[in-house]
Amino acid sequence: MCGIVAYIGPREAYPVILKGLKRLEYRGYDSAGIALLNGGLKVYKKKGRVSELEDSLLGKDLHANIGIGHTRWATHGEPSDTNAHPQTSASGKLAIIHNGIIENYSQLKQELTKKGYKFNSETDTEVLLNFIEDIQKNNECSLEEAVRIGLKRVVGAYVIVLVDQEHPDTLIAARKGSPLVIGVGKGEHFLASDASPIIEYTKEVVYVNDYELAIIKADELILKNLGNDKLTPYITKLDMELAAIEKGGYDHFMLKEIFEQPNTIYDCLRGRLDVEAGTITMKGIEEYAEQIMNASRIVMVACGTSWHAGLVAEYIFEELCRINVEVEYASEFRYRNPVINKGDVIIAISQSGETADTLVAIENAKSKDAIILGVVNVVGSSIARVSHGGAYTHAGPEIGVASTKAFTAQLAVLTMIALKIARKKDTISEERYRHLLEELHAIPEKVFKLLESIEHIKEIAEKYKNARDFLYLGRGYNFPVALEGALKLKEISYIHAEGYPAAEMKHGPIALVDENLPVVFVATKDAHHHKVVSNIQEIKARKGKVLAVVTEGDETTIGLCDDVFVVPEADEIVAPMLNVIPLQLLAYYIGIAKNYDVDKPRNLAKSVTVE
Ligand code: G6P
Repeated sequence: MCGIVAYIGPREAYPVILKGLKRLEYRGYDSAGIALLNGGLKVYKKKGRVSELEDSLLGKDLHANIGIGHTRWATHGEPSDTNAHPQTSASGKLAIIHNGIIENYSQLKQELTKKGYKFNSETDTEVLLNFIEDIQKNNECSLEEAVRIGLKRVVGAYVIVLVDQEHPDTLIAARKGSPLVIGVGKGEHFLASDASPIIEYTKEVVYVNDYELAIIKADELILKNLGNDKLTPYITKLDMELAAIEKGGYDHFMLKEIFEQPNTIYDCLRGRLDVEAGTITMKGIEEYAEQIMNASRIVMVACGTSWHAGLVAEYIFEELCRINVEVEYASEFRYRNPVINKGDVIIAISQSGETADTLVAIENAKSKDAIILGVVNVVGSSIARVSHGGAYTHAGPEIGVASTKAFTAQLAVLTMIALKIARKKDTISEERYRHLLEELHAIPEKVFKLLESIEHIKEIAEKYKNARDFLYLGRGYNFPVALEGALKLKEISYIHAEGYPAAEMKHGPIALVDENLPVVFVATKDAHHHKVVSNIQEIKARKGKVLAVVTEGDETTIGLCDDVFVVPEADEIVAPMLNVIPLQLLAYYIGIAKNYDVDKPRNLAKSVTVE
C-alpha cells in the first residue's frame, strides 16, 4: 500500500519519479505528490491519480537532481491534497514520504501538541516528521541521527524517505515492515517500493532490511542499523526485463496477465517437472521434505486470492499426501493465539511477498520453531526472505490489482509440492503419480487452447452486466474456484457476488434465487459431477439463470445451462488452473462493459502492507 520513489543523481529527478509513480500506482491511487530540491524545497501534491498530478504541473519549472514521490492508499485521513504525501515539517525544511502506519502516532501527536506543534493534515506521517524535526532541534543533531533516535520510539510499519533543504545532496531512508529497494547506478541512486521504477536504469539493487537506515548521496550508499553500526550493502542483480512491466499491446494489465498464463504456468513448471524421468525438482522444498512428510499438520496462511490457492491445495495435499491441512486467513491466524508446535509446517502463499498480515503471521510461527515455507512470486520479497525454504512461482510481475496469473502459478507450485511429498511418503501409486505429472505438463497447452475460444465471453458479460448479485457455486476442488470467481467479479465490476459450496447453497443462498439471479457453476467432470448437475437442476427449477464452466463434450450439462464456458478435459486435481480462467475473463469483460478501470479498482491496492 502506497508507492514510494526517490532519485538522486545527475538526471532530472522529476521525470524519473513521475514514471516510477505510474509504475507503482497498483499500490494505491487516491492521491500523489512529489518534492524536489532545487535552491529550496518545492512540494506538489494532488488528490487523484498520478496523471492528474502530472497535468497540474505542466509548464512549471521542475528542474532538480534530487526528489521524492508518493502515490497513496489512504489510511489516516481521507484522500485530499493536504493529506497527500510528501508531508512537510513545521519549519518547512524537511519533507517525507511514508508507506505504512505509525501505530503510536496519536501519543506522539499529543506530546508535540503540548509543545505547540500544529498539524495541517490528518496523517500519521506528518506527526512522525515533526517528531523527527523536534528531536533534531532539541539535540542539535543531524537528520540521520534524529531519524535513528526517533525510530526507536516508533511503533508500526514504515518505509520512509526524507529530504532536507539544507542538505540537498542527501536522501535518508529507513524501513521496518514495508518494502524498500535501492537501485545502484553510476553516480546515481533510485529508491522505490519495488524494482519496477528502477529496472530501466540499473539492474543492481540492494533490498533494505527491517531496522536499517540508508544515507544516500549520488555516488555513495551507506547502510546502518539503528545502533549506528555500518552494514555492507548486499547488491543483487535483478532478473526482470522492462517488457515484463509494460502492457505489450493489451488494453489492460489484467487482460495481458490472463493471456500470459500459458507461459507463466509453463515457466513455473520448467526445470522442475520432468515427465519422462518422473521427477519434480524443487530445492527449497527438498531440504525440508522429511519435515513436511512427518509433520502432523500443515498450515497454509494467506490473504485474498492466495488464500483461495491455499484452499485448493488443502484438498490436494489431503488427498495425495494424507497430511492434515488447515488454511488460515493470515489476519486471523496472527491475532488469535494459535497452537503452533515445533516442527509444524507453515506454508505462506503470497504473490507480492509483502502482505503485512502474512508476513507477521509467519514471523510469529517462526519464533515458535515452526518450519516456514514460502510460495511467493516476487523474488527477494520480505516473505521469501523470512521463509526457511519454499518455491517461487515465477509468474513475472503482476500489475493488475486483481490477481490472475499469480493464482494459477501458485496452484502449479502447490500441486508440484504435494506430488513430490506424496511420492516420497508413498501415499500415491506409481500409476497415479505418472498420470498427474502428465496432466500437469499438459496444462499450459490446454490454457492456450482455452484462451483461443473465449470471444463469446464478451457477449455473456454484456448480457449479465446489469445483474445486482451473482452466486458462484462449486464442489470439491472447484469450490475454491467458485470463491475466486466471485472475488474477481466483486473486485472488478463492483457487483455483489458470493461464492459457496454447491451443496451448502440449500442452507441459505437458495433463498436469493429468482429469474434475475445469475448463478455461475464450476461444473467440470470430476468425482462430484453428478451432484453438481443436481444442484444446477435445483437452480433451474427456481428460474435462476445458470452459467457454467463445463468440460468439453459434456453435452448433457451444456444442455441444462443458459450460458457455458467450455474448458478442455483435465484431471480434477489440475482442473482448477483451467476452470478459473473463464471466470477471470467474465469479471474482466463485465468490468469493461461497465466502463470501470479494471487495473485499478476502487478502494483496492495490490500490495497490502498495512494490517
Ligand atoms: C490484495 C490484492 C489481492 C491479493 C491479496 C493478497 O488484496 O488486491 O489480489 O490476493 O492482497 O496478496 P498477496 O500479495 O499476499 O498474494
